[in-house]
Amino acid sequence: MKKVAIKLLLLAGLAVQANAEVVNFDESDFKCLAQMTPVRGFFVDNLLGDLEATLAVAKSETGGVYPPGSVVQLVPTEVMVKREKGFNQTTKDWEFVELKVSEAGSEIHVRGAFEVVNRFGGNCFACHVKARPEWDMICEQDHGCDPITLPNGVALTQEVIKGIQHADPRCKKAGA
Ligand code: HEC
Repeated sequence: MKKVAIKLLLLAGLAVQANAEVVNFDESDFKCLAQMTPVRGFFVDNLLGDLEATLAVAKSETGGVYPPGSVVQLVPTEVMVKREKGFNQTTKDWEFVELKVSEAGSEIHVRGAFEVVNRFGGNCFACHVKARPEWDMICEQDHGCDPITLPNGVALTQEVIKGIQHADPRCKKAGA
């Protein structure tokens, strides 16, 4: 029994070594929006330290494929993380995360590929998949997604979005 366990551990170790690009994250990886890098209306980061590669795609006028480790946020509670290649072909390796945020920091409420819904019942994947292929599921205002709407059907304006961004409670703790 013990031998089997040791063998499994060794195998797991080898698997990790063979794929150095695995993107692991927990709630401590998410920052106050003001500590991320702004690109037009949204914010980016890279969990593997390759912010330049993420920015190159985010700033490209013709789109592109975000590199593994990319973190993209529009509002404090909703995150897209580009996982390692092969995580989920259908979501183009994006994992969707809904956070609960407070002055104490971030807490992961839900995370996953197809199953994550926002607090208004909208499925992240179902809406973001409508972005034209060159935009790698990033919606912005004109990539083909439906607008984000409140339960009463009113679409969020850029002004309201800015207000939500500035009200990120995590920034208080960070002093940003
Ligand atoms: C009904 C459609 C819809 C749903 C549902 C939705 N989004 Fe979005 N999302 C958008 C649109 C449209 C934008 C761009 C808004 C803007 O820039 O004004 C956006 C922006 C974003 C961005 C910034 C990058 C980008 O695509 O422009 C992230 C990250 C994001 N959403 C994550 C999520 C997550 C996580 C969920 C689920 C918890 C979610 N979204 C649910 C439509 C949606």
